[in-house]
Amino acid sequence: MSNQPHGGELVNRELTGKEKENKLNEVKSLNTLTLNAWGISDIELIGIGGFSPLTGFMGQADYDSVVNNYRLADGTIWSIPITLSVSNEQADKYQIGEEIALQGEDGITYGTLELKEKYTYDKELEAQNIYGTTEDKHPGVKKLYERGDVYLAGPITLLQRPDHGEFNKFYMDPSETRKMFADLGWKTVVGFQTRNPVHRAHEYIQKCALEAVDGLLLNPLVGETKSDDIPADIRMESYQTILKHYYPEDRTRLAIYPAAMRYAGPKESVLHAIVRKNFGCTHFIVGRDHAGVGDYYGTYEAQEFISQFEGELGIQIFKFEHAFFCTECGNMGTAKTCPHDKEFHVHLSGTKVREKLRNGERPPKEFSRPEVADILIKGMQQKLEKA
Ligand code: ADX
Repeated sequence: MSNQPHGGELVNRELTGKEKENKLNEVKSLNTLTLNAWGISDIELIGIGGFSPLTGFMGQADYDSVVNNYRLADGTIWSIPITLSVSNEQADKYQIGEEIALQGEDGITYGTLELKEKYTYDKELEAQNIYGTTEDKHPGVKKLYERGDVYLAGPITLLQRPDHGEFNKFYMDPSETRKMFADLGWKTVVGFQTRNPVHRAHEYIQKCALEAVDGLLLNPLVGETKSDDIPADIRMESYQTILKHYYPEDRTRLAIYPAAMRYAGPKESVLHAIVRKNFGCTHFIVGRDHAGVGDYYGTYEAQEFISQFEGELGIQIFKFEHAFFCTECGNMGTAKTCPHDKEFHVHLSGTKVREKLRNGERPPKEFSRPEVADILIKGMQQKLEKA
């Protein structure tokens, strides 16, 4: 099983040591641009090779090609534009050919952009083709509509990785995860994307996959998510707990995926798979409504979309149907493996689960492990006290 990076080579756009020091001196004389947390996470992922083969923010040829064909201009599969937006007035400040210092809202210079292109774009077209809707109620579309009207493009250099605070010990770049898999002797590794606590359905599909491969990389997204998603710090605590109690230590690893959530469903499933391929996974799980939000996507739309690229993607996709606990079977299953009627299936909506947790009540153990439920209850209560 090949686990080549996407495009063949792991990109490294990071400067370290003397080169970094020299660059940081040069940077002082450059024009600056302040990026939000989303932009900073993009330069981090480009810089460390998570977004290989991208070396910077997309120019117009790649952008147009991605929005219309879900491929870079050279034909490489890529399903979501990675772009840097500014307002028209800001764009006028920068000249093609100049190097711009990219700062965070904290004033730290995280990198530089070699400005090759500035171009305007059609937000509604991007919304429709990437998010499947032009409605601004969709959280990804809302963000897109709030962006500046001009995209700046060109290769970036990463000078400073963002500090992931309490998550630092679960931070690994693609070359580190690749080395870890090799050291562990894992030839096949399944990557699991999540922005939720691991409930029984997640656990079931992970373990079904793990039956077929050497190891599992639990790779939760910890960048920006919408406000009613469970915060990453609470989730990280719950992941450590469930791994400790219910997973084999020698076959499971936890590492953060420091990206922002786009809620682009089918299109994001392909991006998620590509990134995990870059991190060295050979397999990736796409279950029900992957990266979905509200009713914007069909339950299996992500699976259908990703299927068209499967032969070429370079990472094997494990597709799972909607999983549930069946009280008649006395175990987890899906419509593929359970013959019983829906009335025997334990189903709880996200709203119902949140309501229970807020009231200090554990969801049924068929839905969530009690150790996980307790952490979520504690987290919910802390969140309510803060509010
Ligand atoms: S996501 O936005 O990161 O996709 P979530 O954390 O809920 O959301 O899902 C993580 C992965 O588990 C996705 O591949 C999703 O399709 C899958 N998944 C979530 N719940 C179920 C379920 N009940 N049955 C099957 N797959 C599921």
